Amino acid sequence: MTLTKEKKEKEMVDAQAGPAEATMEPPADPARAGVDAQAKRIDAENLNIYYGEFLAVKDVTVEIQPNKVTALIGSSGCGKSTFLRSLNRMHELIDGARVEGSVLLDGVDIYAPSMDPVLVRQQVGMVFQQPNPFPTMSIYENTAAGLRLNRRRLKKTEVDGIVERSLRGAHLWEEVKDRLDKPAGGLSGGQQQRLCIARATAIEPEVLLMDEPCSALDPIATLAIEDLINELKRRFTIVIVTHNMQQAARASDFTGFFNIEKSGDPGQLLEIDETEKIFSNPTLKETEDYVSGRFG
Ligand SMILES: Nc1ncnc2c1ncn2[C@@H]1O[C@H](COP(=O)(O)OP(=O)(O)OP(=O)(O)O)[C@@H](O)[C@H]1O
Ligand SMILES: [Mg+2]
Repeated sequence: MTLTKEKKEKEMVDAQAGPAEATMEPPADPARAGVDAQAKRIDAENLNIYYGEFLAVKDVTVEIQPNKVTALIGSSGCGKSTFLRSLNRMHELIDGARVEGSVLLDGVDIYAPSMDPVLVRQQVGMVFQQPNPFPTMSIYENTAAGLRLNRRRLKKTEVDGIVERSLRGAHLWEEVKDRLDKPAGGLSGGQQQRLCIARATAIEPEVLLMDEPCSALDPIATLAIEDLINELKRRFTIVIVTHNMQQAARASDFTGFFNIEKSGDPGQLLEIDETEKIFSNPTLKETEDYVSGRFG
């Protein structure tokens, strides 16, 4: 009898702790080593991305692997951010902007008419170049901000748990645990970016898109975010845009190279492969020139 009661109580505690805690055990399947939660894959197919009449990104077909980091590199204006925003339907928030082709999230087309873009953005989260917490809102409220959009009403204790877990996951908890009620505007740039990562991960998305998340940070804060990215891929699929070649080489499993032939032309994904190959032995001369700094 006692055993059953204890078991019940443990189940309740586990349930409250949520998936991050419940998945701490080593995975049984060796092929899934290093993965805590199966995230979703993305398949973009024949994607053309427009601003009005202007074709900004042309005919991208690509597979983005789950629980891996894919870095996107390429010169300014070649469409990296545009492509990234098409993966969670943020592109269409710009007047006149539209997309042709499809983006499948584990086989489900996020552009299908029945798809709610708000739900898509909950599954495919985004972290921007400039840390953008709500500056007057508290650290706690910032972390929980995305949860408020969820339909299910959470109890205060549940939100407390998620906030702590997300801030721990973003390597920020120890620095802020005594000032959770203080405004986020009082944090350093690197801390604010980790707060934005905590906010994005609090809603447990499947995919995390990051557009130059370290470009406003110093080298120490940059390395801290890279370590964090390496841990986050245990739970999420990550796509990161970066101008920092060392960062792409250090932090990613796959690297995609975007290019434009000349100004006014659309950007294209010229080559994507394992990061090691892109940086040591890429197939195309254009890629080789870019990664070795001979471009422009
Ligand atoms: N809101 C917009 N309206 C019209 N054109 C846009 C808009 N945003 C971007 N573009 C155009 O789309 C093309 C791709 O821009 P994008 O911002 O995706 O490039 P990028 O590769 O992210 O560049 P960077 O490395 O400088 O961030 C550019 O020609 C740009 O001028
Ligand atoms: Mg950009």
